[in-house]
Amino acid sequence: MLKKIKNFIKKKGTTPIVCLTAYSKNISKILDNYCDAILVGDSLANVLYGMTNTHKISLEMMINHACSVKQGVKKSLLIVDMPKGTYTNNKNAKKNANKIINITKCDAVKIESNNKNFSIIEYLVKSGLPVMGHIGYTPQYKKTFTVAGKSYEEEKKLIKEAKKIEKAGAFSIVLECVSKQVSKKITQSINIPTIGIGSSVECDGQILVTDDILGLSNFNPKFVKKYINLSKLIEKSVQKYKKEVKNKLFPKKINSY
Ligand code: KIV
Repeated sequence: MLKKIKNFIKKKGTTPIVCLTAYSKNISKILDNYCDAILVGDSLANVLYGMTNTHKISLEMMINHACSVKQGVKKSLLIVDMPKGTYTNNKNAKKNANKIINITKCDAVKIESNNKNFSIIEYLVKSGLPVMGHIGYTPQYKKTFTVAGKSYEEEKKLIKEAKKIEKAGAFSIVLECVSKQVSKKITQSINIPTIGIGSSVECDGQILVTDDILGLSNFNPKFVKKYINLSKLIEKSVQKYKKEVKNKLFPKKINSY
């Protein structure tokens, strides 16, 4: 197992794990100083390409963005989402995960659980391809948004799913919109780190979509905290630029050859 991944696992129970998404080098270069892991999430389908869900993002698009992100990453663990339909059996999962890792030089891939694909995780891990799991609200498989773990049956199902993913060899699991109580139970039931998004402080670490916390997207669910409104700051700068161009205040002598 990669030393970087071993170190990531070791953080469980010692220090909260900091993760964020990135889709380009300019952002990953900043995140790399502060994050334990950076994810090239297939959320880029919605966030950058304006698609209604993540289902149509291609392997090539993910690879292109991951190649850009990799240029800004020196120390963080770099994980890339496998798009829907690219890991439906052992053969295509291995071929596509290999392609992602070989071309982008990322450390691991993430695959969403459909509560059946445990043997695919096992096959990838046994083939030397590190895998992060993803349970709870899994956008590749769920049509409508729901918080997971609200009933006792769901709680049992989610804990079982997490244990099976751990047994299959995944090095970590994203819990997306899982209730606080169930996140706590899952985190206590497995030996690999749980990374929460909308899943409370009970997880071993947290991840959010960077564009959401910077106020660049217009996505405002309660689990997202906006740390800045970058859209407003960008708008103000562009307004100023426009005014200066219109009034011939830009470019000045210093900006000219
Ligand atoms: O695609 C993504 O950005 C993700 C995170 C939200 C965990 O899977």
